[in-house]
Amino acid sequence: MVFNRRMIAIALAYALEQTAAPRGRTLWLYGEPLPDYAPADVYHPRKNFAEALQKKGHRVVSDVAEIGRDYDAVFVTCPQQHEEVEGLLALALDRSRGFVMAVAPNDAGGTRLRGMLEAFGVPVESVGKSHCRVAWTGAAPEADRQKVEAAQLHLALRPLVLGGREWWTVPGIFGWDQLDPGSRLLMDHLPDDISGRVADFGCGFGYLSARLARDHQGIRQIDAFDIDQRAVTCCARNNGEKVNAVWDDLRSRKVEAIYNTVVMNPPFHSGKGTDLGLGQLFIQKAWESLRPRGRLFLVANQHLAYEKVVPGLTLVKLGGAYKILTTRAEG
Ligand SMILES: C[S@@+](CC[C@H](N)C(=O)[O-])C[C@H]1O[C@@H](n2cnc3c(N)ncnc32)[C@H](O)[C@@H]1O
Repeated sequence: MVFNRRMIAIALAYALEQTAAPRGRTLWLYGEPLPDYAPADVYHPRKNFAEALQKKGHRVVSDVAEIGRDYDAVFVTCPQQHEEVEGLLALALDRSRGFVMAVAPNDAGGTRLRGMLEAFGVPVESVGKSHCRVAWTGAAPEADRQKVEAAQLHLALRPLVLGGREWWTVPGIFGWDQLDPGSRLLMDHLPDDISGRVADFGCGFGYLSARLARDHQGIRQIDAFDIDQRAVTCCARNNGEKVNAVWDDLRSRKVEAIYNTVVMNPPFHSGKGTDLGLGQLFIQKAWESLRPRGRLFLVANQHLAYEKVVPGLTLVKLGGAYKILTTRAEG
């Protein structure tokens, strides 16, 4: 991930040597502003990045609705989800008075970047550097207005019927347009006696929380955490009062032993690669969050070695590519 960020900065700096980009007021969608442009306005929905960039003096927003307009230049560091990238390019064209530059790694959308920008009807130049592709235009106001308006809708929360009910969701969050089969397996194999105070670690749009609230009347409160602001907003909209959706990075959260039960489908990716340590840290934090005799239930891909992370993690069920594990805190 750090390596990727460096590659992106190198590619952007190289592209900026090829063209005269305006310096004035700049907006950065996802990426870290290059030193020459600091401080700048930044959009980032993930709490860790938003906080780190704020500490560096940038003005950060995490909700697209709060992004300003009339920027001299807008820079887009493309995430991986295709519709989201289209939405961000459209937003950049909408908010810039002229210049838009976008960057993506070659193996994560870079090869189609130029075409995506050209599809809005603007003249585009591009260069490759440091395993990335950079594409830019100096003619944002010439973009096809209809296409720009339509593509920006990809960034808005929308209702989608999945598994027989409507969910608020948005391209770019985990499994935004499908119910995860592992999460379904987990919910179909929980014991009936879950009650009291419960936590949902890495809640996404709130599927686990919603199933828990629906199927376990004895639950008093569910605290649902996610690092992504959009996921937290969706989770809150998809659930009733019992669910308390919290925007936080669980890696750095100070946890207390207050939960009767923690459920989760832990993340195992950072950027493009598998990051076993992230899931392991989630499990460790969940373990520390349990009251005496509290229980943890998690689903994971079968190949992920989580069994030894905390005491007593045992197999409940294998299904498809997934396994359900559980353990109970001492008491
Ligand atoms: C595999 S998804 C599970 C989503 C949802 N619980 C479900 O079952 O569909 C993992 C979730 O963890 C979130 N996440 C990743 N890193 C996180 C962190 N450090 N702190 C909190 N949430 C995180 C991701 O944004 C993602 O929504």
